Amino acid sequence: MQAVDAVIRARLHSDVVLIRQVAEYIIHSGGKRLRPALVLYSAGAMGYQGTHHHELAAVVEFIHTATLLHDDVVDESELRRGRDTANALFGNAASVLVGDFLYSRAFQMMVSVDSMRVMQVLADATNTIAEGEVLQLLNCHEADVAVEDYLKVIRYKTAKLFEAACRIGAILGGASEAIEEGLASYGMHLGTAFQLIDDVLDYSSEEAQTGKHLGDDLAEGKPTLPLIHTMQHGTPEQSALVRQAIEEGGREAFPAVLEAIRSCGALDETRRRAAEESERAKAAISALPASLFKESLLKLSDFAVARDH
Ligand code: IPE
Ligand code: IPE
Ligand code: MG
Ligand code: MG
Repeated sequence: MQAVDAVIRARLHSDVVLIRQVAEYIIHSGGKRLRPALVLYSAGAMGYQGTHHHELAAVVEFIHTATLLHDDVVDESELRRGRDTANALFGNAASVLVGDFLYSRAFQMMVSVDSMRVMQVLADATNTIAEGEVLQLLNCHEADVAVEDYLKVIRYKTAKLFEAACRIGAILGGASEAIEEGLASYGMHLGTAFQLIDDVLDYSSEEAQTGKHLGDDLAEGKPTLPLIHTMQHGTPEQSALVRQAIEEGGREAFPAVLEAIRSCGALDETRRRAAEESERAKAAISALPASLFKESLLKLSDFAVARDH
């Protein structure tokens, strides 16, 4: 991971000062660096000995960071990684444009690895993330979104990049088709669990832990699973309350909505689904030979569910 950080630092360079300011600001604010870890663990589990995994891990983190810059503009979020968001500090225009810089820098870097398969996987994943964010935009303030539609959004916007990170590790390591599919499926289920928990944390976390404001999802009228579950299984009053909060957005209804989703068990139900996804992730790599890297992948799937940050 230190080698990955060195690549990240080196590749952030631009002669344009504002690019360096914004990009270094968000990247050096920290973050869990989960996606690059997935590239390293997957390649390591296959016994990969080269150095392309460092470059590709940095590529994946750049793509992730670009999506965060854009996502915080779209979500009008003000806090990320415990600091003001880049859009709050530098404005929407700078955030969007530096996000574009990071995407295109990621493309330059992946070309340098010179693997058509890897480029295909990352190009497809990046495109799918964009589709996921647009699908989510269409669902905002839409109270009748079905669980399946919600799951599609989180597979696209989040799980796809986890899947791609694992798949390129497998490709680098020369995995068989079956093992590659296993690792990809692990990433997809892990990413789904991860986003389900993210959606729980938006209602139940400590800001000091997540470094993000609570209630951002409700403010945007995002129909996440805790809300969908409450509309489907709560009392008629709870259901009506949540429906109205989604349609109107804003933060006023947050305390009442929180009370409703807690009392009808929607957070527990979302956590239960995340745990199910995490078990599927583990099962998908059962054929992977034993190694420290595999152990780390298994631990990550527990972390995705148990996490508070
Ligand atoms: C945030 O991802 C966006 C989601 C997919 C929920 P992370 O929680 O991995 O963000 P950082 O990189 O650790 O800040
Ligand atoms: C994940 O969705 C965003 C991306 C995959 C780009 P969220 O909007 O829930 O992520 P946070 O909560 O802002 O990190
Ligand atoms: Mg967001
Ligand atoms: Mg969120």
